[in-house]
Amino acid sequence: MSQLLPLTRDDIRPLVALSDGTGFFKPLELEALDEVLTDCLDSADDLAGQEAWVLWEEGRRAGFVHYAPAPMTVGTWHVYWLVVDASLQGRGRGRALMDWAEQRVKGKAGRAMFVETSGTERYLPTRRFYEKIGYEQQGVLREFYAPGDDMVVYRKGL
Ligand SMILES: CC(C)(COP(=O)(O)OP(=O)(O)OC[C@H]1O[C@@H](n2cnc3c(N)ncnc32)[C@H](O)[C@@H]1OP(=O)(O)O)[C@@H](O)C(=O)NCCC(=O)NCCS
Repeated sequence: MSQLLPLTRDDIRPLVALSDGTGFFKPLELEALDEVLTDCLDSADDLAGQEAWVLWEEGRRAGFVHYAPAPMTVGTWHVYWLVVDASLQGRGRGRALMDWAEQRVKGKAGRAMFVETSGTERYLPTRRFYEKIGYEQQGVLREFYAPGDDMVVYRKGL
């Protein structure tokens, strides 16, 4: 049995560990994740409206998604974090988390969802994933993250 529940303070450490377990994120990114999730619960003013949801399966956390409205826009939202447990990837959970986020955002008069990811070879599966679930590549910001590491921007109209 699976269910989506809103983020609580008890989720933060386990979700950082779950993200670490994917082998995708650098220590600096994991530190940022901790802050992002803490801010989400404390509802930082600049990202008012942000949400994080946890996918639970048989009493364990299987993944999570975090998204927020883009300040100074009309109905534009960003997905900041999306992670599925390493042992559970490739079986529809990422899509289910994104479907949920998109439905929630639509319900708040959201118009478009943006997501940014790395252009490196390592993130090719992530880019394929976003394309598969209906996101269109909008642009590439050359070497935005680091030398040799572009930012790729995707968009989906809601
Ligand atoms: C990216 C991620 C969230 C996707 O979640 P997931 O549960 O593995 O993906 P799903 O099983 O829901 O895949 C949805 C669709 O994308 C496709 N897809 C997923 N991974 C893919 C890959 N490596 N190559 C091609 N297509 C892929 C699936 O085939 C599926 O299509 P289908 O429904 O037609 O079969 C997950 O793999 C993950 O946590 N990766 C590490 C962290 C990360 O990159 N997060 C993104 C933030 S930058």
